[in-house]
Amino acid sequence: MATLSDLERRNRLAPLGDAYRLYRRTFVPVVVLSFAANLLLFASPIYMLQVYDRVLSTRSLSTLVVVSMFGFGAIALLGILEFLRSRILSRVSVAFGQELSPKVLSRMLSAGPGVIEGNKSVMRDMDTMRDFLAGSALISAMDAPWTPLFILVLYMIDPWYGTLAVVGAVLLFGLAVASEWTTRKGMKEAQYALVSAHDQIATIARNADLVVSMGMQGPATRLWRQRFDAALGWQSEASERAGTIQNLTRFIRVALQSAVIGLGAILVIEGRITAGMIIAGSTLLGRSLTPVEQMIGQWRAFISFRAADERVRALLAAIPAETPGFELPTPKGTLDVHQLVVAAPGGKVALLKGVSFHIEAGQSLGVVGRSGSGKSTLLRALVGVWSPASGHVRIDGADVGQFPPRQKGQLFGYLPQDVELFSGTVAENISRLDPDDDQDVVDAAVAAGVHDLVLSLPEGYETKIGAGGHGLSGGQKQRVALARALYRWPSVIVLDEPNSNLDAQGEEALANTLRALRSNGRTVVVSTHKLNLLGQVDKILVLDEGQVKLFGSRDEILPQLLGPKSVPAQVRPVVGTLAPGGTAQ
Ligand SMILES: Nc1ncnc2c1ncn2[C@@H]1O[C@H](COP(=O)(O)OP(=O)(O)O)[C@@H](O)[C@H]1O
Ligand SMILES: [Mg+2]
Repeated sequence: MATLSDLERRNRLAPLGDAYRLYRRTFVPVVVLSFAANLLLFASPIYMLQVYDRVLSTRSLSTLVVVSMFGFGAIALLGILEFLRSRILSRVSVAFGQELSPKVLSRMLSAGPGVIEGNKSVMRDMDTMRDFLAGSALISAMDAPWTPLFILVLYMIDPWYGTLAVVGAVLLFGLAVASEWTTRKGMKEAQYALVSAHDQIATIARNADLVVSMGMQGPATRLWRQRFDAALGWQSEASERAGTIQNLTRFIRVALQSAVIGLGAILVIEGRITAGMIIAGSTLLGRSLTPVEQMIGQWRAFISFRAADERVRALLAAIPAETPGFELPTPKGTLDVHQLVVAAPGGKVALLKGVSFHIEAGQSLGVVGRSGSGKSTLLRALVGVWSPASGHVRIDGADVGQFPPRQKGQLFGYLPQDVELFSGTVAENISRLDPDDDQDVVDAAVAAGVHDLVLSLPEGYETKIGAGGHGLSGGQKQRVALARALYRWPSVIVLDEPNSNLDAQGEEALANTLRALRSNGRTVVVSTHKLNLLGQVDKILVLDEGQVKLFGSRDEILPQLLGPKSVPAQVRPVVGTLAPGGTAQ
């Protein structure tokens, strides 16, 4: 792929930019709060200095009272400021998640079904980012820049103090860099492996019935374990290294604490500072090193954050930004397919090899062919789920891709071969998750012949189905999904083996539905491996190994399918169910 222009790249990364911009807006208040808080951190060393050098030398209780009032007042104020700061950061992190996650999800969805499948873990990455941005890591990062201020004050007390603080900070910082350097790769690999282990769990969960019924627990666990072990391997290597460095850091810290007292004693003996300054100096040194030390402890969180940020960035950069698109007139439903070549997403093999046909608006087309001949592939290409490698699919003259996403709903009704319903109510499912007109839902259900079935459910249209809800049989699901495809009468209705799970009664209802769609002037494409549905179509297309074997009017093609020689082996058994003239019964 050609490299992106800066503008295009910025456009694509806009959701991330917008989310980070929330932080930019709070940057000034948070920095001001941090500055004030760090200034107030001087309160306690100053208090100590006053107590040691003023109160103790004058033995004046009233001085102690005054000094204490100021001291504790300042410390209380410090508490309030720090509370405000962490409150702001935690609120912004929530806003960050609300800003970013929905946009990324919708971007992934706009890029096609394969993208979300391959990048589900990115949603988790954004949680990692949010956690980091809300947490103490960011706060210590905010405090770190004030370290020089403390060191400066130490210099002012005595240059030796300042020097000791600089040496300490440099040592600790060097260790932090070393920690980052030695653990970077391991942490990153561990993160990747962990994410893929989680994905594996999701697959196992989806197939839990299978795993339990056929005793596949062992192999399933093994499958997950490989990735999990890889993650643990990387993680333990990285954390052992990080642990060593952390211990060294702690040692240096403790040593510095004692060194500062020893140094103070020398300086007092030489008469350069007062005794109170020993205590104040020791506190100041501690304060100046705390953020540095905290940041070292939080490298891990930072590395995870950065890896997550990189993945989100890479994903966004790879998907063109959504544009509102140009709304075309509601199509009548003329379908023109020309030299269509389609491969599976990411695949190289052409599953359709130059398919061409044309049907007028309001006509219906039956697609038949043996299993694996490319029926589902053709239907996916018609609704734009799989894009053509070459050739085109045009609806009223416009390429499917030209219709903006918001228009797709009125353009297509699609019933995939493998029916899945969302967990939600029946009404939500039929209305494509956006129920705002009950009558439309009922109309679709009636048209799909599923209204009575829905009424027989415990709560009718409000019955919750899917995960944790009321279970539906395969045939019931298929009929609810058919209603979903018909909702608000889209121009082109594409049904992939809509009768695969239906009983005789369901087939009857489906035949009625097709008849109604025809008299309604809807363009219908229906694939089937049972010939009895073909009574309801105008045209028939026979696919074989991704190519058109026969195409023509029903009356022309059906007799050929029924003829003893050309009947594909798998349709022969159902031939007997066809009444003469091709009317299904
Ligand atoms: N996701 C996929 N990736 C690669 N090949 C696929 C995929 N789905 C289907 N195929 C292949 O494409 C061919 C046509 O499949 P399909 O369109 O599902 O046939 P039909 O619906 O007629 O049974 C088959 O050979 C199948 O193996
Ligand atoms: Mg199929």
